Amino acid sequence: MSTPVRDPASDPQALAAALALLRAGEPVAFPTETVYGLGAPAFDADAVRRVFVLKQRPADNPLIVHVATPEMLHRVARAVPPAAQALIDAFWPGPLALVLPRQPQVPDIVTAGLATVAVRMPQHPVAQALLELLDEPLAAPSANRSGRPSPTTAEHVAADFDGLLALVLDGGSTLHGLESTVVDVSGPQPVLLRPGGITLEELEAVVGPVARAGAAAGAGGEAALSPGLRHRHYTPDCRVVLADGAGLAGACAAALAGGGRVGLLCHSPAPQLAGLALVREVGATLAEYGRQVFAVFREAERERLDTLVVETVPEQGLGLAIMDRLRRAASPVPV
Ligand code: TXA
Ligand code: MG
Repeated sequence: MSTPVRDPASDPQALAAALALLRAGEPVAFPTETVYGLGAPAFDADAVRRVFVLKQRPADNPLIVHVATPEMLHRVARAVPPAAQALIDAFWPGPLALVLPRQPQVPDIVTAGLATVAVRMPQHPVAQALLELLDEPLAAPSANRSGRPSPTTAEHVAADFDGLLALVLDGGSTLHGLESTVVDVSGPQPVLLRPGGITLEELEAVVGPVARAGAAAGAGGEAALSPGLRHRHYTPDCRVVLADGAGLAGACAAALAGGGRVGLLCHSPAPQLAGLALVREVGATLAEYGRQVFAVFREAERERLDTLVVETVPEQGLGLAIMDRLRRAASPVPV
């Protein structure tokens, strides 16, 4: 059995079909500007439970709730502090999730029992149309199996959940290709929990100094702040080796000498080496590199690579989010 993939741009019934499924408690995958999400109505605890089961997601990792209007935001968030409002005015709709004090009626399964809820207003027209039709917030994690690279096309979603999903809405390749920035604005100072499409520099231009999760909480505290950070993430089914531009040729040569199929993802000109099974030279810009990283991880799997050598980027601007994902992919244990 395969998973139905329908594009609302060419299939006028696709959104109505998604709506009927969601109202019946059936999770539906949909595109956002970051990555594809696997959605269930946030107030339907049974439907949200099905999302956890489908993803095989640990129950201690809370979901982001997606909203289309300020009214939907207030249905899930009890308070919107001034710093949060400033970030909303600057960056919504867009790739920014805000951790806010939760309304008590938000089901515990959505927030993993925390006193806060992460909320985001997506910019993708299909996500917005779906939320407006449903007229209810949608809890939606990235639409990958837990631990796998996030999906940036409808085909990636269908591959992870073959035959298990009733519907994937197709909105093409996602614009950012990396998950949203997550900022905790429930306390006295904003804390960056996950770097993403809205950069630290952009956040600080609006609200002043933003703490980093690790620095704010100290060793061991980070996991308590953002439970998702302690789980393995973004990992293709092959070894990922990081190297800077000057080290690419050496890293590839060493991997080739070790035997097996070796591939390369880089933004600098690729070294001319015989024997590489896959070479993806992408990204004149950080934005383009970020857009492609997860798709190339999945391509590496389809090519049955043993090792993928990946070029690093400077940790500024979008580079912070890209390096966060690359380090997690390259690490055999959670980082
Ligand atoms: O771009 C995105 O954010 C995508 C699209 C679909 O919107 N969604 C996404 O969701 O990446 P997910 O579930 O893969 O990642 C949500 C992250 C996790 O690291 C989780 O721990 C964190 O947000 N999170 C959710 N609620 C939280 C809360 N109340 N406090 C702290 N962290 C929270
Ligand atoms: Mg995810």
